[in-house]
Amino acid sequence: MSEAIPLVDLRAQYAVIREEVTAAMQRVLDSAGFIMGPEVSNFEAAFARYIGAREAVGVASGTAALHLALLACGVGPGDEVITTTFTFYATAEAIAQAGATPVFVDIRPDTYNMDVTQLAAALTPRTRAIIPVHLYGQAAEMAAIGEFARQHGLWVIEDAAQAHAAEHRGQRCGTLGDIACFSFFPSKNLGCYGDGGMVTSNNPELAARVRRLRDHGRIAKYEHAEMGWAYRLDALQAAVLDAKLPHLDAWIVARRRAARYYTELLADVPVGLPVELPDNRHVYHLYVVRSQARDALVEHLHRAGIGASIHYPLPLHLQPVYRDRGWGPGSFPAAEAAAAEVLSLPLYAEITPAQQERVAAAIRQFSSG
Ligand SMILES: Cc1ncc(COP(=O)(O)O)c(C=O)c1O
Repeated sequence: MSEAIPLVDLRAQYAVIREEVTAAMQRVLDSAGFIMGPEVSNFEAAFARYIGAREAVGVASGTAALHLALLACGVGPGDEVITTTFTFYATAEAIAQAGATPVFVDIRPDTYNMDVTQLAAALTPRTRAIIPVHLYGQAAEMAAIGEFARQHGLWVIEDAAQAHAAEHRGQRCGTLGDIACFSFFPSKNLGCYGDGGMVTSNNPELAARVRRLRDHGRIAKYEHAEMGWAYRLDALQAAVLDAKLPHLDAWIVARRRAARYYTELLADVPVGLPVELPDNRHVYHLYVVRSQARDALVEHLHRAGIGASIHYPLPLHLQPVYRDRGWGPGSFPAAEAAAAEVLSLPLYAEITPAQQERVAAAIRQFSSG
């Protein structure tokens, strides 16, 4: 059998950047400065510049970013936060960590992002914020979400965990709401070698609050103004990310090229293909297709050595953790249909046309078999 094609190939990426990353890590080891310091502040400045945001604050993970962004906006017990039911669990988990309650809305079936026409029905006097998720690397409809939030006095907290360098109307995700949250989980478009995250904002007060909360509520070495967390970004991870950031533009171009090639290869195969809205620059963190025979197709691909995966098989409103919230099958039909039908195909900057042709051939074989 020919060589397996993984969903994500971090070893292929490392082979390209090995020297820069190793030198960056060595620099941190030689300096023995592992917590905060110039590695973290340099990367924060570089990332803020890259995104086009005024402020960037390095944190321990994407989940920590969401938790602190919510706290910085003053979201807490008794408050409700509207988000999508079709996302990674951390989006809603962070709302609960802040002491608030997630309220879900369904998705658009074409982009899998929050259906903005459902926001009004989810609004209550307790609603304080909206968390749109830029799922799979495509921006949510931020203009409409921003307008709704302004009308109702709500914060907009972007979950940009999957959307580094994605754009909406020419502006990067991370600058489209009041505050934004990125993940540097290793498989993300910009990933570190462990856990890491970033909060970005154009609001210096929100950023200052996140800065304090990530580090024990500290205002001076042993002076603490409030309860905080140990949510700092490691200097080692910051150094890795700083070495990787100059490659991100080229990686996104390669991802978009590979996405276009899949779309070409699969044009005549009966699977649903990703839809990129005209307002958006999709960065294809995941290339997601859909099929009514999804489970059998995934099994077929795995047998062929192809690392297809499912993001996500169970929408949040059906998760065991929300059993007592009164949601059930049928509550959010578009998300439930997506959860039953989506599959993610191998995609990374280094994927070769030959590998993509093998993936497409296996899907074609399944469809005609
Ligand atoms: C949409 C979304 N939100 C939040 C997170 C949480 O990020 P992390 O794993 O860095 O905590 C992730 C990724 O894992 C994600 O994909």
